[in-house]
Amino acid sequence: MTGIICGTGSYAPSYTMDNNDIAKLVETSDEWIQERTGVVRRHIIQGETTVSMACEAAKRALDNAEVTPEEIDLILVSTISSNVILPCAACEVQKELGAMNATCFDLSAACTGFVLAYNTAAAYLAGGIYKTALIIGSESLSNLTNWKDRGTCILFGDGAGAAVLKAEDQKFYLPVTHSDGLKGVALTCKSRHDCNGLTSEIAAESLVDEAHFMQMDGQAVFKFAVKKVPEVIREALKRNKMTQEEIDWYILHQANRRIVEAVAKRLEEPIEKFPMNLQEYGNTSSASIPILLDEMNRTGKLKAGQKIMMAGFGAGLTWGATIIEWHS
Ligand code: COA
Repeated sequence: MTGIICGTGSYAPSYTMDNNDIAKLVETSDEWIQERTGVVRRHIIQGETTVSMACEAAKRALDNAEVTPEEIDLILVSTISSNVILPCAACEVQKELGAMNATCFDLSAACTGFVLAYNTAAAYLAGGIYKTALIIGSESLSNLTNWKDRGTCILFGDGAGAAVLKAEDQKFYLPVTHSDGLKGVALTCKSRHDCNGLTSEIAAESLVDEAHFMQMDGQAVFKFAVKKVPEVIREALKRNKMTQEEIDWYILHQANRRIVEAVAKRLEEPIEKFPMNLQEYGNTSSASIPILLDEMNRTGKLKAGQKIMMAGFGAGLTWGATIIEWHS
């Protein structure tokens, strides 16, 4: 028994900032950002919130799955940037959808969040506790971004992605996940300041204590990702007695094109097996994997029976890999 994905949805704000817009805020250039990260533009909230984006992505996923809100037993929202502390974002989504039979809670594991949300929901479904789950990654990272720090503001964006899982009598692929709190200092954000959808002009004037924003040792995070992601992918294959040849797609957290390319190289896999959309969204933390999954689903790239390796990594530090078989 496992949780198979039977529908996906995503949402990105219509307002975008391209690299030239960022270059008006900090000393950088389109050329530098594209070369070092692959990011071209990012979508930024303007009126939307983490909860409103989560609701929109969820509605699209439910439509795609042809599942009604009443059928949902579990709603899990993975986020580090919710606009509400209480009640949790998942309960806010429940209220908006009218999913009154669901148990709802949030999960905070940064860019590994969607992988952990999938694992958590799949375990509940495999255990027979719930039958239908809605998992969502939604982030307004623009609220946590220091728009005066060129080491971070070039990277992040806002958006949400969702998936509906149903309990089915199919193979349960064992995930592999890790955490290392000792190295957490590499990527921190000590508190939260709701900037309510920063525009570039307001951002430039923003005078908020730096502790409110994400602070990152970029090189440390880069080295961590490039080493640990191939390792955890190999561990997940070994744990399920599978080979790389059996994997059709590697859907990695979309942090940086160079990280994705380095992982492909270390695994000696063709880059074509590593779809990317970070050029359009930047790093949307726990939303990046479900947004990409939804785009691949809707453009018909995912075929029934294909095996997908999802891998996330980020603050904590946390990282993990999980294999799913596509059934939609
Ligand atoms: N524009 C122009 N120059 C910049 C810049 C920017 N946005 N940011 C840094 N620089 C400069 C630095 O000051 C440095 O200049 P110097 O050589 O004169 O000292 C030079 O570029 C190289 O800086 P460095 O920090 O070594 O760059 P990098 O190649 O490591 O790239 C990141 C920086 C942030 C793009 C890269 O480290 C990265 O992507 N790390 C992973 C981050 C990540 O994915 N985090 C989330 C994980 S979930």
